[in-house]
Amino acid sequence: MKIITVSYRLPLSIKKTKGKAKITQSAGGLATAVLSYSAKSNVNLTWVGVADFDKATWDENKDNYDRNFDIEPVFLEKQLNRKFYNVFSNSVLWALFHYFPSFVEYTDEGFEAYKRANEIVAEKINSIYEPGDVIWIHDYHFLGLPKLLREYQPNAKIGYFLHIPFPNFEIFRILPNKAKKYILEGILGSNVAGFHTWDNTIHFTECIEKILGIPHKNFLFSQESHRTKAGSFPISIDFDKFHDAYDKENVVALRNEIKGLYGDKKIIFSVDRLDYTKGITNRLKAFEKFLEKYPEWSEKVVFLLVLVPSREEIKKYGERKKLIELNVGRINGNMGNYKWTPIVYQYQPVNFDKLIALYTSADVALISPVRDGMNLVAKEYVASRKDLRGGLILSSMAGAAKELKEAITINPFDAEMIAEKLYYTLNMGEEEQERRLERMQRYLKKHDVFRWAEKFLTEIETIYQHDTKAS
Ligand code: UDP
Ligand code: G6P
Repeated sequence: MKIITVSYRLPLSIKKTKGKAKITQSAGGLATAVLSYSAKSNVNLTWVGVADFDKATWDENKDNYDRNFDIEPVFLEKQLNRKFYNVFSNSVLWALFHYFPSFVEYTDEGFEAYKRANEIVAEKINSIYEPGDVIWIHDYHFLGLPKLLREYQPNAKIGYFLHIPFPNFEIFRILPNKAKKYILEGILGSNVAGFHTWDNTIHFTECIEKILGIPHKNFLFSQESHRTKAGSFPISIDFDKFHDAYDKENVVALRNEIKGLYGDKKIIFSVDRLDYTKGITNRLKAFEKFLEKYPEWSEKVVFLLVLVPSREEIKKYGERKKLIELNVGRINGNMGNYKWTPIVYQYQPVNFDKLIALYTSADVALISPVRDGMNLVAKEYVASRKDLRGGLILSSMAGAAKELKEAITINPFDAEMIAEKLYYTLNMGEEEQERRLERMQRYLKKHDVFRWAEKFLTEIETIYQHDTKAS
């Protein structure tokens, strides 16, 4: 028996420059979480995903990537992949599901490519599937996959997990009817449909009832061949990995370097993929407001803004990048001086040790998405603070805010409020820092990524066994 885990992104990316291959780890919460689980669990796991490299590059490099699981890349034709990923997945689903309806650019061509890509991936999975396997499908790229696989394998154990929000009915109904039906029927092919929060689960069940007319009983949808259970399974992190990294030699050295660079100045830190959902422009405006409102903080604080390149071929991402850089330049020009740069900005990824060094150097982590399924960065920041120092400012629009109850929550659209909360957090006493972090760490230690995966996989087994006995 094996687990076949399916996501658009494989955990690794291979880019070739001047004939030389460079292997990097994929960015984002999904890759981080599933990779943490795969690396530590003893299960027999095969990871299926869409390759961002060609077959020859894979054959040359597949043995140069250390792992304890198998990888089955799917090679999609370039144009099909572009329409599948850029046009439908990211310019329709991502935008709509994050409540940006005005950013949606629906085309039938994109939708057709999406369906075709789902079919190709279904064929691939079917070719490696053996009875008893569990198929674990991830995220918005594969909404049609559970149903397609159910048609191939009526008795398969299929779990579907959505890593982004599931929008409410009023937003979801914006999609053309055929797309709505495809998505909902698609998910219902699974035995378990998982979401980050109860709100998302309720939105999903409402859409099923209102659009497909299928009622639920305790979040269970009965169909002819099987039942689908919808539920909330908040994703998490490998707590110990982040907590223990505090003492790593390299992390200590990097932290000393960062602290040395900024001396007595307090550090505000944020790291995100460059995405319009992350509220980066809101954050910058709020930081500017903070400096205007509390001029005594001038030259006493620095904002380290790390943005990780993401989806650069999509217009809205390029536009957002320009807007952010315009704001960074303007704020630094207006508020800074020859001795002090208020915002230090990097548009490049950071490796694990640097990330931990930055988390653990920061006096404040400022996380302000306007909409986010979970936001693992918030959890990672809390877990890494073994010293129990620092404060977390977190948008109430992030799934993580439902669990991290001791965070200082903000409305990302309210710059005045963020400025005040920044002032509060920068002045927060050590006792309060400790109390808040301790409680959140206790919660995260218990609710880690392993528990998330186990709960989800156990639920598939429970529903499956119950249905098999009943039939
Ligand atoms: N991260 C990354 N590369 C970096 C910096 C951070 O992959 O250069 C990781 C970060 O550690 C976190 C993930 O990206 O695990 C971001 O996940 P989150 O849930 O916060 O947001 P997402 O990118 O999935 O929307
Ligand atoms: C989010 C999504 C993932 C995605 C990741 C990175 O975490 O939920 O499905 O892989 O962002 O985005 P990318 O488009 O580069 O895969």
